Amino acid sequence: MSHQVSIWRAAQLVGVARGVLQQQVRDGALVVNEGFVSTEALLRLYPGAELEESGMLERVTQIRDEAFGKRVRERLLPSQEVLAQRLFDQSQELADLRRHLQRYHALVIALQRRARERQAQFPDAPAWRELEREVTQGLAQALATESVDVLEVMDGMLKVMTAQVTVRPSGHQFLVEGHANLLQSGLHSGLKLNYGCANGTCGMCKVRVISGEVAKTQHFDYPLSEAEKAQGYTLMCCHTAASSELTLELLEARGPQDIAQQQLVGQVRAVSELGNDTRLLHLQTPRSHRLRFLAGQSVTLGWHQPVPGDVRNTLPVASCPCDDRNLQFFVCRDESDAFARHLFAGDIAPGAALTVLGPTGDFVLADGHRPLVFAACDAGFAPVKSLIEHALSLDSAPSLSLFWLATRPDGHFFSNLCRSWSQALDQFEYELVSDADRIQGAQQIAQAMRADLFDIDCDFYLAGPTDFVQTLHDELRGAGVPEAQIFATVL
Ligand code: FES
Repeated sequence: MSHQVSIWRAAQLVGVARGVLQQQVRDGALVVNEGFVSTEALLRLYPGAELEESGMLERVTQIRDEAFGKRVRERLLPSQEVLAQRLFDQSQELADLRRHLQRYHALVIALQRRARERQAQFPDAPAWRELEREVTQGLAQALATESVDVLEVMDGMLKVMTAQVTVRPSGHQFLVEGHANLLQSGLHSGLKLNYGCANGTCGMCKVRVISGEVAKTQHFDYPLSEAEKAQGYTLMCCHTAASSELTLELLEARGPQDIAQQQLVGQVRAVSELGNDTRLLHLQTPRSHRLRFLAGQSVTLGWHQPVPGDVRNTLPVASCPCDDRNLQFFVCRDESDAFARHLFAGDIAPGAALTVLGPTGDFVLADGHRPLVFAACDAGFAPVKSLIEHALSLDSAPSLSLFWLATRPDGHFFSNLCRSWSQALDQFEYELVSDADRIQGAQQIAQAMRADLFDIDCDFYLAGPTDFVQTLHDELRGAGVPEAQIFATVL
């Protein structure tokens, strides 16, 4: 009998993006039954899927290599206690199955004996002979050695190494790997979780455990009442999944309207030169006060020391919300912008404290499963980079395409990242366009899109100066793309 696995697990087993499998479900190539697919159907689609190909064995083998040592062990394997708990659960499940099988076997043997006795008693009744023959044949078939379902074996291993969490009522799922807690794992999977301090103080990440077990990963000060404990409430930032499967009840943000305004002070970790006129600003928030934001949103950065006066600028965050402590920003040289002037002059340097106010903006990923197309002009790549990283975490889009126009001498200052995405991910492709004229550049991009994509039902995300965004928007509308599938931000 075929083994059933969730889409999340199936994607992990055959080593493809979840969005690719979801597309195959929509195309009718793969059948989903109550959220599960059969390993038999999966193997028909991916006949080459082997334990080695999933990369899992390789990862486990690496653990034995002491050169990788502790770091690999911590990233891939849960703590000893959690491992022991998951192994215990699996052994218990196996013992139950074995017990049931033994009972069924005994039942079938008794039936076979009974049929033989009846046959001896009533040699002229063919029904008893027929029944005895069917039982004997069925038993022989059941006991015959079948080839091993390799995906089922891999699923068993994965259940010990990684836990699968299902969220109610949304139905979203995510995996918990290594020593990560529930909050980190959920954020890394692109979920819009509610949280605050991330260290067990505020209680904002409180959720209810519907089924499965959790294990504490760190001390917390937030006082859960006895009634809350009795109802199964727990803190995501201080617990991990102890069982292989866990169901949590929690509310996720629906969009920017559910993300509260925050104010915090971060420290500049680095200012790196990406080109003569472009800097990458790396800001780190305090461990106990992180920024909750959605990919594609902006914040206002303020610098108050040592020169008098308020130096501030609103910039899109260029990094993924899954790393809420390390925020990246692209700053372009601009003499009319005091913040950029001080940054390029070296006044805003590593160690400087900056206030962060936000987030703002509604240039965020819409729900859905359409292919995603991004178009950025110059530093418009910042929110687009954040969106792409978020989309990759979500792993639900069947494909992602990026068109990046450079109008300045600094060109495509982060093209290495585009190359590494494209090398690592089958579903990502990109095209770099250079043109000093933004309108002509936008028209070139529209032409390239028309050649590749206009017959595909996609969501389009545009970021850059007004003329770039407007030109591309008009071209898309002119080509019949519905307004509801175009999302834009003007920078
Ligand atoms: S985020 Fe504050 S207690 Fe978990």
